[in-house]
Amino acid sequence: VPLAPLHTFRIEVSGRSLIRLEDARQCLDLPVAEDYYVLGGGSNTLFTSDFGTLIVKNELRGIAIEEASDGFSLSVGAGENWHELVTNCLARGINGFENLALIPGTVGAAPVQNIGAYGVEIERYIETVEVWDRTNLEFKTFTKSDCQFAYRSSVFKQNPQRYIITKVNFWLPKNWQPELSYGPLSHLPKTASATDIAAQVIAIRQAKLPDPQELPNAGSFFKNPSLAAADAETLAVKYPALPMFPQVDGTIKLAAGWLIDHLQLKGYAEGAAAVHQNQALVLVNTGNAAGTDVIALAQHIMERVEQEYGVLLEPEVRILDSHGLLTI
Ligand code: EPU
Repeated sequence: VPLAPLHTFRIEVSGRSLIRLEDARQCLDLPVAEDYYVLGGGSNTLFTSDFGTLIVKNELRGIAIEEASDGFSLSVGAGENWHELVTNCLARGINGFENLALIPGTVGAAPVQNIGAYGVEIERYIETVEVWDRTNLEFKTFTKSDCQFAYRSSVFKQNPQRYIITKVNFWLPKNWQPELSYGPLSHLPKTASATDIAAQVIAIRQAKLPDPQELPNAGSFFKNPSLAAADAETLAVKYPALPMFPQVDGTIKLAAGWLIDHLQLKGYAEGAAAVHQNQALVLVNTGNAAGTDVIALAQHIMERVEQEYGVLLEPEVRILDSHGLLTI
């Protein structure tokens, strides 16, 4: 099975075998003795070598919308495309997802890493997540608090591959307020419609982030690191321009893109894997990159950042070797 078409970084490797999951009832027939890897849209997954484990591709479809007096309930199959859901909702006058326009991947992947952009994280709109639990061999529904959402994290991210997400249930209230706190959106008027905001978000993303169709990539390659306030203060003295974002838990989040950019690594390449010219947090495949190129590039960046700032970067992308998750 060629894996390049199944992940947006498009490394030319191949998989042993693949099952398409089109009906949740198929979960009951999935192998128990044999391991398998569940894949969604492949926009946050990076295959670095030929893959020996069976792949189960989540293609569960279906969108059910129910309107109540104060909002909309959405019940969405995990294999639906995220951005198509966003545009579909906006066209029906259902507001809330606009800041998350143009994020690649599937609806089922959204809760896994609690997708977020421009001041909104998806947890805000999630009511429940329906899963197949591969350990207990049962269907289960997670309430929002069961999901343990955090920055680019959730119970699903913390227990990789334990749960197959089958459906995500959202609640979008009608008393919608625009979220314009993020710098590049703050110039929009308070009266901006959800469609206006989506248009702006799409323009910003298109200017900064490479289109995976044209320049294969997996979005932000690293998470933005969080530091204790005292450590962040020390860094702020040395690097006054370093963007810092105080978090509710008292830690300070740093812009990893700035840390990498300030080391003048934009455009830096290992083989055909390179740091993107417009956004240093994004690594791109400039043509036929090997998995080893990407790993070498990521490690080089992590080493340089640690030497310069004493900060450890953690990949956000799920990097796979021949059988499963690879820690670099
Ligand atoms: N910056 C630089 N140089 C760079 C990149 C960024 O100086 O090369 C500075 C920017 O000027 C800005 C700050 O760093 O002051 C933050 O940059 P940006 O707004 O581009 O966002 P980010 O922190 O790099 C995060 C998310 C993105 C999301 C944007 C917008 C993570 C890991 N990434 O990126 O999510 O779209 O904010 O909200 O949290 C993704 O997860 O794949 C992703 C693209």
